[in-house]
Amino acid sequence: MPTYLIIGASRGIGAATATHLEKRGAEILSVSRSPSAAGTWIEADIGTVDGVNQVVQTVGDRTLDGLLFLGGIWEKGAFTAEYNFLESPVSETLAVIAVNLTAPILLAQALAQNLARSDNARIVLMGSTSGLPNAASPEVANTAAKFGLQGAAEALNLSLRHLGIATTVINPDNVATPEVEEDIAIGRFGNQVPIPLSDVTNTIDYVLEIGASSVPSSISLGQKRPAT
Ligand SMILES: NC(=O)c1ccc[n+]([C@@H]2O[C@H](COP(=O)([O-])OP(=O)(O)OC[C@H]3O[C@@H](n4cnc5c(N)ncnc54)[C@H](OP(=O)(O)O)[C@@H]3O)[C@@H](O)[C@H]2O)c1
Repeated sequence: MPTYLIIGASRGIGAATATHLEKRGAEILSVSRSPSAAGTWIEADIGTVDGVNQVVQTVGDRTLDGLLFLGGIWEKGAFTAEYNFLESPVSETLAVIAVNLTAPILLAQALAQNLARSDNARIVLMGSTSGLPNAASPEVANTAAKFGLQGAAEALNLSLRHLGIATTVINPDNVATPEVEEDIAIGRFGNQVPIPLSDVTNTIDYVLEIGASSVPSSISLGQKRPAT
């Protein structure tokens, strides 16, 4: 039975993935500030170094087959006309970078030895189409963090190769989480068909199950029917 550490498992993509992988028989350790949807909950704020250390200490010397970094935060009013970079407080910029970029790097480093004991160790980072060249969205810290994940994934594939650990960044367009569904329903987002959560979990299954000699280093998942 594989063991996966899932960051951001209380809502959205992380919750759907934790529930999905648990149903498939995996052991799940799930991290969030509010109670997780599945697995054994580790209550921690990964936006702080103490919170990251708390996760690492709780994992202890367990073997991990995957570190799935599926959580994240973004700026107030993000992805709507309400977002205003010039009014974004310093605290917001620091928090978005800490959670979306610093935390996955610190966790990958601190948990590398746990992953190295797996036959097919995987790190999965949830990026976004905002992190792809010429597809930025105006939210500066979030977009910078997503671009950063792309670089982190490439560098981790070099730095952790000798331990047999492969890293993949998945860059989806809008996903049908309850929050996105609501934003579309009330007209905050344009009319569109978001990516079903099952397509995201299928993509994660593909990454986790591909043979130990291959690394899909970056996967972009676009919407067939984006906002019109
Ligand atoms: N939904 C989309 O359409 C979409 C599209 C492209 C990319 N993404 C990316 O996918 C990721 C997840 O998005 P989502 O829509 O699933 O978001 P979500 O529904 O808001 O869930 C975010 C998760 O991250 C956790 N989290 C946030 N800050 C945390 C902290 N400081 N410490 C511990 N856990 C924390 C939350 O848990 P707590 O609040 O309980 O701590 C929650 O479980 C994000 O990186 C996002 O950029 C999403």
